[in-house]
Amino acid sequence: MDFSGKIALVTGGTSGIGLATAAKLAQAGATVIAIGRNPERLATAESVVSRNGETIACDISSPSEIVFLMSHVKARWGRLDVLAINAGISDAPAIGDLTPATYNALMDINCRGATFTFVHALPLLAEGAAVVFTGSVGGRKGQPGDPLYAGSKGFIRAFVRSAGTDRALLKRGIRVNVVSPGPIATPLTSEATQDEAALHWIEDMIPMGRWGLADEVADAILFLASDAARFTTGAELTVDGGMAHA
Ligand SMILES: NC(=O)c1ccc[n+]([C@@H]2O[C@H](COP(=O)([O-])OP(=O)(O)OC[C@H]3O[C@@H](n4cnc5c(N)ncnc54)[C@H](OP(=O)(O)O)[C@@H]3O)[C@@H](O)[C@H]2O)c1
Repeated sequence: MDFSGKIALVTGGTSGIGLATAAKLAQAGATVIAIGRNPERLATAESVVSRNGETIACDISSPSEIVFLMSHVKARWGRLDVLAINAGISDAPAIGDLTPATYNALMDINCRGATFTFVHALPLLAEGAAVVFTGSVGGRKGQPGDPLYAGSKGFIRAFVRSAGTDRALLKRGIRVNVVSPGPIATPLTSEATQDEAALHWIEDMIPMGRWGLADEVADAILFLASDAARFTTGAELTVDGGMAHA
């Protein structure tokens, strides 16, 4: 896939799936803006995108930081052709121990952050731009353990279904889709991948019998962001070894 001349912004572009996406977009010729918070992760991403692009520290749980981010992008780069709304966390206490504060800690990133990244990027999206969210198989399939995280990703799935069919956006040629990964070995899942019992328990739920790789999700994000998916909008592409359908 050729992204030469395209300007792409990837939230959570400093680790795991987002970093793999940023790297593949850069390899395919895009100018890539990678967003994260942690300085060490930002430095890692810098080596991936610095030749033609930049990393920017921004906490997407803060709508005012997103406004500032987008005004910088407008001033420096002028527009966005690809927007990967990928930043997310999965930490939440057991459902019975949830408090308003721990609820907000997850929802402010996974839902409010994703929403306002989209909202404040809208004026910058070029004609024919592609937006790809990162959802989760948890947003569509019942799994014990993580109802709040699952709910946050169900929100993303429903949001994309409507945003992707918005006539005003489609008039501008803007497509909106979601990639829903199954279990992927990244820093987000390191606790599970380092625990033999958890690793195999999850493996057993995946028809293909193995965890996925960040690169495999990134390939799906690039597909939906590319002209190869020019007639696809509002869609969900699962990248989960068949888990959602088992
Ligand atoms: N790994 C899986 O099994 C899996 C499965 C389904 C869906 N997903 C989804 O895939 C996406 C990426 O996950 P991953 O596995 O690649 O996780 P990861 O390696 O932990 O990366 C998460 C990225 O999001 C960024 N991020 C988190 N909160 C942020 C905030 N408030 N503001 C800005 N950036 C923030 C992180 O940057 P900082 O570290 O600097 O905060 C990091 O770059 C998430 O939406 C996740 O829910 C993952």
